Amino acid sequence: MIEKCQVFTPSQNVIELLDAAGYKRDLYGKKIIENACGDGNILVEIVRRYIEDSLNNNINLDKIKEGLEVDIHGAEIDEQHYFKCLANLDEMASSFGILNVNWKILNLDFLKQNFDGQFDYVIGNPPYINYRELNDETRAYLRENFTSCKFGKFDYFYAFVEASFKSISSTGKLAYLIPNSLFKNVFAQELRGIILPHLVRIIDYTSHKLFSQALTSSAIIVCDKKISSKNFEYKDIKKGSTTVIQKETLDKKWIFENYNFESEPKRRFGDYFSAAISVATLFNKAYILKEFKEEENHVCVGRFRIENDLIRRGISPRSLNSKKSELIIFPYKYVNSKLVRYSNEDFNKSFPEATKYLCNFSEELRNRKSDKNTKWFEYGRSQALAHLNQPKLLLSTVVTKEVKVYELTKDCIPYSGIYIVPKKELTLIQAKEILESKAFNEYVRAIGINANGNSLRITAVDINNYRF
Ligand SMILES: C[S@@+](CC[C@H](N)C(=O)[O-])C[C@H]1O[C@@H](n2cnc3c(N)ncnc32)[C@H](O)[C@@H]1O
Repeated sequence: MIEKCQVFTPSQNVIELLDAAGYKRDLYGKKIIENACGDGNILVEIVRRYIEDSLNNNINLDKIKEGLEVDIHGAEIDEQHYFKCLANLDEMASSFGILNVNWKILNLDFLKQNFDGQFDYVIGNPPYINYRELNDETRAYLRENFTSCKFGKFDYFYAFVEASFKSISSTGKLAYLIPNSLFKNVFAQELRGIILPHLVRIIDYTSHKLFSQALTSSAIIVCDKKISSKNFEYKDIKKGSTTVIQKETLDKKWIFENYNFESEPKRRFGDYFSAAISVATLFNKAYILKEFKEEENHVCVGRFRIENDLIRRGISPRSLNSKKSELIIFPYKYVNSKLVRYSNEDFNKSFPEATKYLCNFSEELRNRKSDKNTKWFEYGRSQALAHLNQPKLLLSTVVTKEVKVYELTKDCIPYSGIYIVPKKELTLIQAKEILESKAFNEYVRAIGINANGNSLRITAVDINNYRF
């Protein structure tokens, strides 16, 4: 689990992070911690600044060594990186002629310590691990011990921000490099509430990617415990602009784009249509058929001949984009437009070939984190199924330049993206016009979470909340 987050900060961003915190002058006697320090990319620059500034203030090398041992702190859970960090710090100190420093770098889990109020600066790039990748034990620990993790699908870094915020003294500063999903993710709302009172600055890299493997873009947040202002400075790196944001104008999501919600029309998309997440099999490898041969009564997949009654067109925005034809095993039926679930016996009896095929994956299917009462051959989540048996629209959760909306027939089963069905009065053609409009695109620019490059991630809730 931890290995996934071991991505270290590039030197340019280390400089920006320390500058943003104002870690520049009069550093002697100021306690600082880098609480997930990895190989020490940030700590090494901290030590360099600390020594140079102390020398500028005519502090001798013996005193500087003592200072390093008291003022500079670090935590790292991984033993190998911890030792590498110590070696890197020794190298930096020795380049100034300072040897044998007894570093206060600890090889431990920062989230299990209590450093409340102890530091003048907390600086770092914490581990990011999304909820899906956290094991049950860590999830339970975070839920129990961190307000920001009480609800929903939190990220590991929420706990780090919360713990770091607590670790700064009443005059201390926090400068943290975090995924900028913090500003908009619904599950980070609690955390936004925690940091907002002392937030003084955001440096947002928006579509500029610092880490190629991360799913969202990055931002630096700076909190200053001695300042409780009504506004903060927001810098958009890509646009090169800096604005002052009034805290009281921020709602549940933090929107920094100039999008005028006040002037929005009254009709809410979600009152006329339902936008919802597509079916989630939780094991597409078994259900989505990419290599197959269609015959009269069945579909051949390898040595299996799956009964036609179970087969539908499987659709995802990606497959539509690449014009790939895919099928999906649909282990349900609709009777008078109502979803009917097969019993185990019925399924085995009616679809012996499909049963044999799915038995191939029986271990993986049984190990899914499925909804309660899900049968082994069914999809992991059933929430989308009730409304699927009608014509619908499909769009991707990731929007690049324009919003692409696809029309799907009644029989198609979307297994990725957001699908839309009508509720009252308006038609799907009208929904398509609304979603492909310039106004909706501007809304996406304002509320979307930066994903890859210029792409933005949106949710079904965002679509339902749109006003047209
Ligand atoms: C994203 S890396 C950043 C490393 C360093 N801050 C940098 O920017 O170069 C996160 C580091 O946190 C460490 N880590 C993960 N969980 C931790 C925990 N609970 N306590 C301390 N360190 C942890 C990982 O091993 C990894 O080295």
